[in-house]
Amino acid sequence: MEGDCYTLALLNLKHIYTKRYSRFKKVRDCSMKKIITGFILSITLFSLLSVAAGDAKRGQLASAACAACHGSDGNSPSPEWPNLAGQSEKYIARQLQEFRKGPDGNRFNPIMYGLVAELSDQQIADLAAYYATLTPKAGEADPDMVALGRAIYLGGNAANGVPACAACHGPAGMGNNQAAFPLLAGQHAQYTQKQLLAYRNGELTSEQAKIMQMIAQRMQEDEIKAVASFIQGLN
Ligand code: HEC
Ligand code: HEC
Repeated sequence: MEGDCYTLALLNLKHIYTKRYSRFKKVRDCSMKKIITGFILSITLFSLLSVAAGDAKRGQLASAACAACHGSDGNSPSPEWPNLAGQSEKYIARQLQEFRKGPDGNRFNPIMYGLVAELSDQQIADLAAYYATLTPKAGEADPDMVALGRAIYLGGNAANGVPACAACHGPAGMGNNQAAFPLLAGQHAQYTQKQLLAYRNGELTSEQAKIMQMIAQRMQEDEIKAVASFIQGLN
């Protein structure tokens, strides 16, 4: 009988969530204590299940606050604002968590801090899930820089210990969501260049950012420029 009381509480909670009050089951032979315990257990279970994954639909609603800068389709209209379309869900979620930490975190940006300071983990997961579903648009590479950019991207620069970007970001720049290696394909060259310089200068300090710091510190100015331009043309 005890188990039945808990099952009923769970079912009833589901009817409350889905607003199907007519399906509400009468609770007979259950003490008030068991009914209340059942509800509490059910609510805990529901909340555990609901923070597990992002919901792209909810993320789409929340993205209204982001569209002015990151574009209504996740492809931003200005080279200072990164494209988010198709970006690794894990990578986005992690960056938003870093922004949320503010000046003491590993990635401080006053604009993004103001926008995400009040977001919950669930809202962050929803936004990340939504942007990951969108389609990235490619830009164009500067023809004068393509040869050097491609050489660095696909082969690195062995003389200075620069590894091939393709090894982690993929030959077509699609990234790797499981590993949270970001998608780079089509990203604005101006933003990519700024990021590489920020890694090099130690402005980004997470464990993952330190991988990029080691790489960017071995790169020459013209290599950074050329690879950023090549990445903008990748699709
Ligand atoms: C006023 C413009 C603006 C708005 C609005 C805005 N962002 Fe940003 N966003 C930026 C800028 C600028 C950066 C680059 C920050 C940096 O250089 O570190 C950025 C960076 C990001 C990044 C990191 C991307 C990457 O490739 O590393 C993510 C993720 C992001 N924004 C998500 C959002 C979300 C989600 C919202 C809405 C809640 C939002 N942004 C609203 C300007 C904006
Ligand atoms: C060993 C794996 C690895 C290699 C090789 C690598 N990267 Fe990365 N890269 C990462 C990781 C991990 C991150 C995420 C760092 C973070 O969270 O800040 C990243 C982030 C980036 C970003 C920031 C993206 C954004 O949206 O802000 C750029 C740009 C980038 N890498 C460019 C390059 C280039 C150019 C090369 C080649 C010269 C390269 N990477 C080689 C692992 C790698």
